[in-house]
This record gives sequence, structure tokens and C-alpha cells, in this order.
Amino acid sequence: MSVRDGTIDELRAAVGLQIADEELLRTLVAGLDDVEDVLRGVASSDVAAIDEAARHLVDAGGKRFRPMFTLLASQFGPGGSRDAVITAAAAVELVHLATLYHDDVMDEATMRRGAPSVNARWDNSVAILTGDYLFAHASRLVADLGTDAARIIAETFGELVTGQMRETVGPQPGDDPVDHYLSVIGQKTGSLIATAGRFGGMFSGATPEQIEALRRFGEIVGTAFQISDDIIDIASPPEASGKAQGTDLREGVRTLPMHYALSNDPDPRLVELLAGPLTDDALVEEALDLLRRSGGLERTRDTLADYARRAQQELAALPPSSAREACESVADYLVARTH
Ligand code: IPE
Ligand code: IPE
Ligand code: MG
Ligand code: MG
Repeated sequence: MSVRDGTIDELRAAVGLQIADEELLRTLVAGLDDVEDVLRGVASSDVAAIDEAARHLVDAGGKRFRPMFTLLASQFGPGGSRDAVITAAAAVELVHLATLYHDDVMDEATMRRGAPSVNARWDNSVAILTGDYLFAHASRLVADLGTDAARIIAETFGELVTGQMRETVGPQPGDDPVDHYLSVIGQKTGSLIATAGRFGGMFSGATPEQIEALRRFGEIVGTAFQISDDIIDIASPPEASGKAQGTDLREGVRTLPMHYALSNDPDPRLVELLAGPLTDDALVEEALDLLRRSGGLERTRDTLADYARRAQQELAALPPSSAREACESVADYLVARTH
């Protein structure tokens, strides 16, 4: 039996949101099912090495948050083209997936979506090439959506990569570290979630004002999403996140909880640990423990709640509906997933 025919709780679990309207839930689940078919079609090749490495993370699952948001955003237009919405949702997930293959190489990650990362299971070359393969197919799908969509996805990818590069090189002299962090995560994560919302609006025939509201909502939600991911790297066990804990620490990526912990009368031992390369398991554990006990985590949760509130404000430009209520629950979900 497909989850399409499931109980309301099964539908909510598939979508990942506490949506009240059953009809909306069924529409989203049916859309996600169709997106899944596109993803599985793309993640195949008659070259076994590509086929296995591409299927690896598609089959491992993931939350499918971006395609879900495209489908949700498509509820605001009068109709448009359902096929185009499905294609756009799948393309956005493929761009995301491609960046995960590359991100895990850069972050030397060992686990992704509860499975070994591709760089760990195979090697860096396989992960880089498979990421490129998925990105190529995302571009092919977007080509069918017209030149506007192709330009938007190209610009989005450029912004995302710029964010990843700025994270890699770190703040420049004179930059405020927190401002730098927030602008980097807006680029690396907010940009694609913004485009997910924009595409949903565009291909359902929403008005330009509504499309812009969905883009802005997505950008803020995406930034909040990354803040919650950075809390999770410190606070949640691998069984909950599907990723190894402390990856940011090991990789020397300074996230918001670390900036906050260091900015206000920091524990000297934490300052010492965060200053050096951190590879030893026991030292990573010690740093995680100090971060959890520092005020940095709570302050980051406050910032997250602030972004969630700002995201809600963007929804005022959209007509009241079940879909708008579902967008409100997206903001609640971001806060809830860090607890
Ligand atoms: C992980 O994204 C990368 C970030 C931008 C934080 P997700 O948390 O959406 O990962 P999946 O798709 O569910 O695996
Ligand atoms: C991933 O950022 C962002 C992109 C892939 C653009 P992270 O490195 O923080 O994400 P995770 O924690 O590995 O999923
Ligand atoms: Mg990473
Ligand atoms: Mg990274």
C-alpha cells in the first residue's frame, strides 16, 4: 500500500509537518510520490559505478524538505502546470543532493542520511563525479521549464557555491564574525530553499507579489534551517540526525553556537579547544560537552526563534488558506527539530 492511502498520521510523517487539512496533505504526498519517481529515474545509469553511487543517497531518503516546500508553494497559484511543479521540485532536490555529495567531500563527513557518506563508502572522486552527474541532470530537467527557470537555477547555484567558498575562507579582516556567518548561511542554504518556493509560485501561476513573498519566506526559512542544522550538529545524536555529531568542530567550521559561546566570557578550555585542529574523538566530545553547557546554544535557539518569527511575517502577503497555515507550521518545525 502506498503512503498515499495512509492514515492522517502517516501522511503527516511523510510530509514532515503537522498539517491539519487532510486534502492538502494528500495532495502533497501524491506530489512527493511523483517527485520520487523522477528522482529514481535520474539516479540511474548503465554505468554501474554511477548507478550505485547516485542511488546510494537517493535511496537513503532524507527529509525531501525542498521539494515538499515547492509543492506547498504551488498551492498559492490558481493552477498552472502540475507537471512543471513536479519537475521543478525534483530539480531542486537534485541540486541539493549534488551539493551534499560535494559538501561531504569538503567536510570529510562519514555519515549522511543514516548511511555511510559516498566519500567514505567509495572515495572523493566518486563523490565529486556523482555530484556533477546529478547536477547535470538537474540542469537538464530545468531546461524543460524554460529559460527563466534555467537562469534562476544557475544564479541560485552560483550563490550557493559563493556561500560555501566564503565559509571555507572564513571572515575577512574587518568582518563581524556573526554577520559573516549569517550571510554565508543565507547564501549556501537560504538561496536554494528560496528558489524552491519561487518555483512553486511560478509554475502554479501565482502573482509576482506572491512569488516574491514565497521566495523571501524560503530564504529566511532556509537560513533558519541551517541554524537548526548547526544546533543539531552539537546537540543531537546520530540516530536522530543521520549524521556524525561534531562534524563542524572536526572540520573547523565556526557555527553560530560557537561564535556565541566564544563571545561572552568563554570557558578558557573551550577557547583552547576551538583554536586548534580538533580530530581526537575524546577532545571533540569534550568540546561538544562544553558547548552544550555554554550559553551559546540557548542564544542560538533564540536567534532561530527570531528567524522563524521573521519568516512568519512574510506570509502576510499570501492569502489565508490551509497552505498558509502549513507554511506557518514550517517555521514551528524548524524550532521543534532542535529539541
Ligand atoms: C542538509 O540538508 C544540508 C543543509 C543545508 C543543512 P537537509 O537537512 O535537508 O538534508 P536531507 O535532504 O534531509 O538529507
Ligand atoms: C551544507 O552545509 C550546505 C550545502 C550543502 C550547501 P553543512 O555542511 O552545514 O550541512 P551538513 O551538516 O553537512 O548536512
Ligand atoms: Mg557538511
Ligand atoms: Mg559544509
